[in-house]
Amino acid sequence: MRTDVAQPVRLADYRPPDYLIDTVVLDVLLHDTETRVRAKLSIRPNPAGRAGAPLVLDGDELTAKKILLDGQDISPETIFVAPDQLTLASPPRQPFVLEIETEINPSANTKLMGLYRSGPVYCTQCEAEGFRRITYFLDRPDVLSVYTTRIEAAVSEAPILLSNGNKIDAGPIDGTDRHFAVWHDPFPKPSYLFALVGGDLGSIHDEFTTVSGRKVALGIYVEHGKEKSAVYAMDALKRSMAWDETAFGREYDLDMFNIVAVSSFNMGAMENKGLNVFNDKYVLALPETATDTDYANIEAVIAHEYFHNWTGNRITCRDWFQLCLKEGLTVFRDHEFSADQRSRAVRRIADVRTLRAAQFPEDAGPLAHNVRPDTYLEINNFYTATIYEKGSEIIRMLKVLIGETAFRAGMDLYFDRYDGTAATIENFISCFAEVSHRDLTQFSRWYHQAGTPLVEAQTSYDAAKQTFTLDLKQSCKPTPGQDHKEPFVIPIELGLVAADGAPIALQTGTEDGASADELARGVLELSTPERRVTFCDVATPPVASLLRGFSAPVRLSQSVNENELIALVAHDSDSFNRWQAAQTYATRLLLRSVDLVRSGGKPCEDEAFGEALYRAIESNIGDPAFAAQVISLPSEADMAREIGENVDPDAIHVAKQALRAALGRQLAPILLQTYERLAPEGAYSPDAAAAGRRALRTACLDLYAAGVPDEGGALAQRQFETAQTMTDEIAALGILTHVPGERREQALDTFYQRHSSEPLVIDKWFILQATIPEKGTLARVKKLMEHPAFSLTNPNRVRSLIGAFASGNQTQFNAADGSGYHFLAEIVIGLDRTNPQVAARLLAAFKSWRALESKRSALAEAALRRVAQVNDLSADVKDIAGRSLA
Ligand code: PHE
Ligand code: ZN
Repeated sequence: MRTDVAQPVRLADYRPPDYLIDTVVLDVLLHDTETRVRAKLSIRPNPAGRAGAPLVLDGDELTAKKILLDGQDISPETIFVAPDQLTLASPPRQPFVLEIETEINPSANTKLMGLYRSGPVYCTQCEAEGFRRITYFLDRPDVLSVYTTRIEAAVSEAPILLSNGNKIDAGPIDGTDRHFAVWHDPFPKPSYLFALVGGDLGSIHDEFTTVSGRKVALGIYVEHGKEKSAVYAMDALKRSMAWDETAFGREYDLDMFNIVAVSSFNMGAMENKGLNVFNDKYVLALPETATDTDYANIEAVIAHEYFHNWTGNRITCRDWFQLCLKEGLTVFRDHEFSADQRSRAVRRIADVRTLRAAQFPEDAGPLAHNVRPDTYLEINNFYTATIYEKGSEIIRMLKVLIGETAFRAGMDLYFDRYDGTAATIENFISCFAEVSHRDLTQFSRWYHQAGTPLVEAQTSYDAAKQTFTLDLKQSCKPTPGQDHKEPFVIPIELGLVAADGAPIALQTGTEDGASADELARGVLELSTPERRVTFCDVATPPVASLLRGFSAPVRLSQSVNENELIALVAHDSDSFNRWQAAQTYATRLLLRSVDLVRSGGKPCEDEAFGEALYRAIESNIGDPAFAAQVISLPSEADMAREIGENVDPDAIHVAKQALRAALGRQLAPILLQTYERLAPEGAYSPDAAAAGRRALRTACLDLYAAGVPDEGGALAQRQFETAQTMTDEIAALGILTHVPGERREQALDTFYQRHSSEPLVIDKWFILQATIPEKGTLARVKKLMEHPAFSLTNPNRVRSLIGAFASGNQTQFNAADGSGYHFLAEIVIGLDRTNPQVAARLLAAFKSWRALESKRSALAEAALRRVAQVNDLSADVKDIAGRSLA
């Protein structure tokens, strides 16, 4: 029955399905407006379900053309068919076959869920609940079926026909202009992993031989003419396949593995069994079209989707509450992969930056939710940084807590025990409890309590006793629906650093001691609200380097002074904490400046920080990627989050610009010198070492231009004119774009002329313009919406122009007159009619509205209310608006 108010789905209500579907035979006759889907489902009562229950299949906007039960018509009294449901009142008690023919219109499918057209290509997206837009089904992840899929299409329109598994037959349909292909996937899978693609596509092919010597045919399908741009993705795929064998003992299991890149895609990519479908942004790269960050993202997303073959596909989720079981774990795996392929320390810094930028605000605002939620209104809204990134951090903590060997043993046990099943977080955790002989009940609170814990650390040195005392305290603010938090298990990796930088051995006595295991591994477990540890035989006053490698996703507040921070920047043996110390220093400076600016004063000045950065550039010249991270200051959004309440984005912007300018002036000589020293040499390589040189060069130019605008601007102009790579070109354009005037407009124009045939490059052009921190930007964005290269039906375009404005332009989205909020609300309301998923994601840009100063927060609230009151909102947008306002 269709109800007007979407009912929340609750984990507590989980019941096994009453029926199972063992096999699915699909026959899909592709047509741009009238695609026919014949589904033959072999169904049987589930012994674990309720005997004699009605069979209720999910649908979504479906039109049924024909339904047969065991080859017979069904009497109308026992069947109920609606666009969103098909019910058999009293199905047979024995296995039976249900044949359903539906008709769907891929060209009219603007939601990009189910079967749709991306330009001329037919493709599907079924996660989470898109399969029900193709045929009626038990569209839930704990129903696993073996699929055989026949696809038929006009040869001219779709010479390429792909689906999951292995191709077992293909040929022309005699006497017509049509042909067919049959695919069989022997691995039982949930419907959300189904995929098919039909179209006229170019491709590149390769082969991978698995450890056990099986040959796998690899294919990447792209728009004709883009084949060369897929070469890096293919290379990343082969490296991913090899890495999963060595790092996790996981071998690929089918004879083929195909990837298709499409231009219209709601998300990043999708792990359909044997047929990954990708947003082309995460496949296509050439040095002159893609930045080093794009290359790193492609490598990570290719790996992520490939790794899902084991973590997600072979072992899937029992229900959508377990989403982090596959996503958190697979993000963890792709992070490890990237760390092994590149620099571990630099990857960790980048991952933590992402976590803090995307997940911390979620946890601190009205959209906060558990990594394993226990209720949802719309599952599409749970593909969040909390599920993905914090979900990955939990697994990383688990590894820190039980150690590498036990972690690997736990993973092996998990693969062994749950292969072929739909599992839960409890199943997963039980494997690690078993191999490590630890009770992980308290640790599991990370899954069940939202919010970012705060760890407060006080230290004191007793010269007479030669002891150093560390007092740790944890707390966590309430989040929606969770007023009180129980203590977490927080692994705190640490070291003590002497003033001269020498590490001090960790020893404790009987009083306030740490366990031998904790001392040996340099990890303290904070599992109580407070803990004191007293280190002995500490001959000189040390600095505590806490939370090394960011060993837990918490906020740390530590009693450490500026000199001590500078000592850590210079000497900490943990490179993450060397970077963190510089960030902490900069954050403190900026916080002071924001206060000064808000009370009508000038931002503060501080030479010591510049000197520390100077030494950091000098001493890390051999690791330019790391040096680049050290001199990249916290973002304005980072500062807003740090401030947490009564936020004034304009004051933050002024403070940040002032610090950049001061540092740029102070460091001008070394910035310029480093910039010149790192000039490109030799042939282009996308590898981490070459990318690191470009990163530091870019960071130097950026800071230099902030401090010495005339010379810096001229240098940026020269780099813009001569750049050989997109990394260098876009960096230069970014600097030019931040300076108002004719030169900027000319550069933007030149860039557009150079790249107008590459939509993914034009996305960068949109992003740059949408993030200009000037009053005129909203007008510019509105004007760009009229540009022929923009389209509201392509999610990448929408995210680049409107998403970047809402999430990447602190001062203009949060303009004091509310114009940014009003604009976003109108866009969301309009877009909701065609693509609710993308609309809902845009609306989530309001997630920190309550932290703003009162005038802005009132305007933001009004805009959210304006959205919430619209009739016929999608469940997606209604859910985000409702939770944001609650
Ligand atoms: N499961 C995909 C991934 O993370 C993400 C996705 C979700 C894609 C929903 C499409 C729709 O790999
Ligand atoms: Zn994923």
